[in-house]
Amino acid sequence: MRVRLLEAADLEPILRIEQRAMANPWNEGQLRAEQSAGNGIAWAAESGNALCGYAFFRTCAPECELLHLVVAPERRRQGVGADVLQQALAYFAGTNFAACFLEVRTSNQAARQLYGKFGFVQVGQRKNYYNQPVEDALLLRRNLIESS
Ligand SMILES: CC(C)(COP(=O)(O)OP(=O)(O)OC[C@H]1O[C@@H](n2cnc3c(N)ncnc32)[C@H](O)[C@@H]1OP(=O)(O)O)[C@@H](O)C(=O)NCCC(=O)NCCS
Repeated sequence: MRVRLLEAADLEPILRIEQRAMANPWNEGQLRAEQSAGNGIAWAAESGNALCGYAFFRTCAPECELLHLVVAPERRRQGVGADVLQQALAYFAGTNFAACFLEVRTSNQAARQLYGKFGFVQVGQRKNYYNQPVEDALLLRRNLIESS
């Protein structure tokens, strides 16, 4: 498996994964907007020639935000999500970003475990942030620079 920057040709396989993997999938318009956003950056994981995971970030230096991290259902628990996150955070740490933020549903134990392993800590809670179903978001933060 390798992790690389997302390319335009990844849109179709991503849409297919969104449709079968997510309760509230991103649509083509959202994906295109994120792909072309000037302050956006995204990574894809591929195995053989098949795309199996991806992560979209927004940057607002010195901070970045993880907007969307998805692994194809049949490829979960095989280290794909961790590899994508590892590569993205290493890039941001190496380019002098200070912190990464993200929001996660309170019920999303898989994602919360993953982010906990990567050193994300809760810094806030947003009441009824999500729809379908309505649920709070936890706001997590991870420092990217060592404090001296
Ligand atoms: C969350 C998600 C990205 C994890 O991807 P993944 O490739 O399956 O995760 P990894 O195999 O890299 O797992 C790394 C660690 O995360 C934690 N983890 C991942 N899935 C887990 C699960 N279902 N239950 C508990 N812990 C889990 C574990 O600590 C795991 O390490 P371990 O396998 O050594 O125990 C994936 O489940 C997914 O795509 N979910 C749907 C989309 C989503 O919820 N995205 C996050 C939105 S904030």
